[in-house]
Amino acid sequence: MSAPPITRGLLGTGDPSLGAHLAAHGPLPTHGDPVLAAAGLTGRGGAGFPTARKLASVRDAARAARTPAVVVGNGGEGEPAAAKDATLLARSPHLVLDGLALAARAVGADTVVLAAGHHQLAGLDRALAERGDRGRVRLVGLADRFLAGEETALVAAVEGGPPLPRGKNPPVWQRGVQGRPTLMQNVETLARLALLARGESAAGHTLVTRHGHTVDVAEVPLGARLGDVLTVDAGVQAVLVGGYHGSWLPAHVAAGATLDRDGLAVHGAALGAGVLAALPADRCGLRESATVVGYLAAQSAGQCGPCLNGLPRIAAALDRLARPGPPPAGLLDDVARWSGLVVGRGACSHPDGSVRFVASALRVFAPELAAHAAGWCTASSSARPFLPVPAVTR
Ligand SMILES: Cc1cc2nc3c(=O)[nH]c(=O)nc-3n(C[C@H](O)[C@H](O)[C@H](O)COP(=O)(O)O)c2cc1C
Ligand code: SF4
Repeated sequence: MSAPPITRGLLGTGDPSLGAHLAAHGPLPTHGDPVLAAAGLTGRGGAGFPTARKLASVRDAARAARTPAVVVGNGGEGEPAAAKDATLLARSPHLVLDGLALAARAVGADTVVLAAGHHQLAGLDRALAERGDRGRVRLVGLADRFLAGEETALVAAVEGGPPLPRGKNPPVWQRGVQGRPTLMQNVETLARLALLARGESAAGHTLVTRHGHTVDVAEVPLGARLGDVLTVDAGVQAVLVGGYHGSWLPAHVAAGATLDRDGLAVHGAALGAGVLAALPADRCGLRESATVVGYLAAQSAGQCGPCLNGLPRIAAALDRLARPGPPPAGLLDDVARWSGLVVGRGACSHPDGSVRFVASALRVFAPELAAHAAGWCTASSSARPFLPVPAVTR
């Protein structure tokens, strides 16, 4: 995506220099336990795991194994509809690098890696040079692929292999990069840790990428009413919450939802990759969803049965349902059955996230399904797809 506009906060003034960073936040305190500072912070990479617990687990695993841990900052942001991490890295690289230093101190790491898109490496290298940290933090460029940021795929990439998921046993906090306990932390989580260690409040806000008439990145309070941070008016039919592993919600439900873990869970949704997309009423939600699922199916590494057999079938069925005209008998039941067969069966959660998205689309766009079955589509816009989907490269 091209660089979206932003609202300030964690994203600073737009000057990524060390001077501007120090003027805004002062130097990083050299004392204090980062694990304590992280109390109340949850991961911003998708799963929302408590950061202090993860730091303590990696620290303890490294002590038990009598080996220094590895810290990896996850900034690849493979989700095509998200731009928050790329925006953060471009605007406030020193907050992320401070967070990495704190994380390394917390877990006793001797190896620190920052993984990001190839286009960001030059800026990050400049930031490392400014603070004299070249050589202390290794930069790893990640391919623009949906799965590249999945933690076991990222471990593989850091080790120099293809960025393919490896399966979650043993977990990377026990045995990750080179078999060592590895702390994998999203770059926004790290930036928030850097503010918390300075006594600044940071755990109660989150970065979101908003898609509406325009696309932007904003810092919003957790616990806000979703309708207060995203325009959900009569021109919006549904809101995608979380991203392409997330869920569609009907517009009126989304507008009233509380933007935090519990508030979204009530509606079967989660903040995920921080994407909020307000689908205009003149688009076909089924066509948008089918395009996304086609992309997701093609992104799978095809290493496991669910991705090899299940997702392509589900994608083909959704593509059929997105076209006006009576679908083959039993196709909807087939999608439900195939979805049930893939959940929990992959080495990573890609099939689970993909079928969650599919199920929400079939639920929320049920009236459109009926219209298509009757031979017509309610969408009046034939503009290019609303949700961004990169050209598929295998
Ligand atoms: C398919 C898939 C893709 C993922 N992509 C990313 C990503 O691009 N960036 C990220 O930070 N986490 C991503 N994650 C989550 C990571 O596996 C991991 O949970 C996260 O980096 C942990 O950091 P956190 O605790 O700070 O959230 C992905 C997970 C899955 C299942
Ligand atoms: S479940 Fe799919 S994406 Fe995950 S490792 Fe297996 S083939 Fe790859």
